[in-house]
Amino acid sequence: MNGYTVAVVGTGPDPSNPTVEGFAMGYRHAEAYATDDRCELVACADIVRENAEAFAATFGVPETGVYEDYERMLSEAEPDVVSVCVPPAIHRDVVVDCARSGVVSAVHCEKPMADSLADAREMVRECRECDVQLTFNRQRRFGAPFTEAKRLLDDGRIGDLTRIEIGWGDFYDTGAHTVDLAGMFNDEHPAEWVIAALDYREEDVRFGSHQENQMWAQWRYENGVYGVLSSGEGSDFTDAAFLLRGTEGVVRINVEGGPMLELERGGERSPVDVGTETMHRTGTETDRFGSHYHDRAIAEVFDALEEGREPTLSGRLGLNTAEILFAGYESVRRRGRVDLPFDADDHPFEAMVESGELAPEPSND
Ligand SMILES: NC(=O)c1ccc[n+]([C@@H]2O[C@H](COP(=O)([O-])OP(=O)(O)OC[C@H]3O[C@@H](n4cnc5c(N)ncnc54)[C@H](O)[C@@H]3O)[C@@H](O)[C@H]2O)c1
Repeated sequence: MNGYTVAVVGTGPDPSNPTVEGFAMGYRHAEAYATDDRCELVACADIVRENAEAFAATFGVPETGVYEDYERMLSEAEPDVVSVCVPPAIHRDVVVDCARSGVVSAVHCEKPMADSLADAREMVRECRECDVQLTFNRQRRFGAPFTEAKRLLDDGRIGDLTRIEIGWGDFYDTGAHTVDLAGMFNDEHPAEWVIAALDYREEDVRFGSHQENQMWAQWRYENGVYGVLSSGEGSDFTDAAFLLRGTEGVVRINVEGGPMLELERGGERSPVDVGTETMHRTGTETDRFGSHYHDRAIAEVFDALEEGREPTLSGRLGLNTAEILFAGYESVRRRGRVDLPFDADDHPFEAMVESGELAPEPSND
């Protein structure tokens, strides 16, 4: 038996057809654990028994380790590490139950953290009080386009960072990655305010949450650096996935098609080598469900646990991102700038849809 025992809660259905209605992230976590010889997958839980059984058959989990009820799984299998891959609306419940179980040492939960800032804070607080390491799977932090961009910043290649522009993906779901990466580029400084506007004319639900069609959000970090995100029809405003603007140049992370990473100085652009790595994967994935970036995230879970240090994927750092995302929606609701920290125990965007303040047409898809 390898060192740490691992369990997955929320295995997901068939992993071969990932969509925004079901990505089966549990499979991606499980294959990442299989690459780390410090652990062994011993149990799984899914309210849909067939899902759990199919997952167990794929990864060799013994029949005694297959559960429908995750609380029963915690008390009987007593896993050291739990991956939480259920939909975001129940992240809080599962994470808090893991923290209070008295048997779990680390929880690795999927992003986005939770459906409200209050829930996200509670998860972090409970895990801290129970001395349980809490991480969120922002696996792109380990992708070469992003780590190399950070190295260029740290090496002073664009002088001092002044502005981070994001033109890739949406605000909430992809934003859990892109705004998180912006935090990494800006040395994890929290934001001090956020102001935003959005358009929601056609219904779009992803991973159980409404997702605006277009959004503009601007925020300022405590160190004076600005962040801005333009999604939907206005996303080509940045002409790249990320533009990291500095006093002496620009780092450009492109969407796929050309060089992934470029350094621009004195009006000249030069490509920066990131091998085969893209926004999503290393490019060397064969015969597997997900990206090798997940393997690196899992390795960080165990490295941090063994070294007794804060993981780069920590809940505390995740809160910096959650604050910006919820404050962006809160700014739309208040029609004004939101100064941080702020409190809201709901999801402001979902609340605006529920109240009818935002009334999108049903989707044609
Ligand atoms: N990191 C990434 O790049 C990435 C990509 C896609 C999705 N995600 C995130 O992963 C998470 C999971 O999304 P998904 O699309 O993989 O989900 P999914 O729908 O594919 O799987 C979730 C599973 O949880 C099970 N479940 C629901 N309630 C449960 C409960 N109380 N106990 C046990 N099992 C329960 C469901 O039956 C289902 O099988 C979400 O937070 C999503 O946003 C992350």
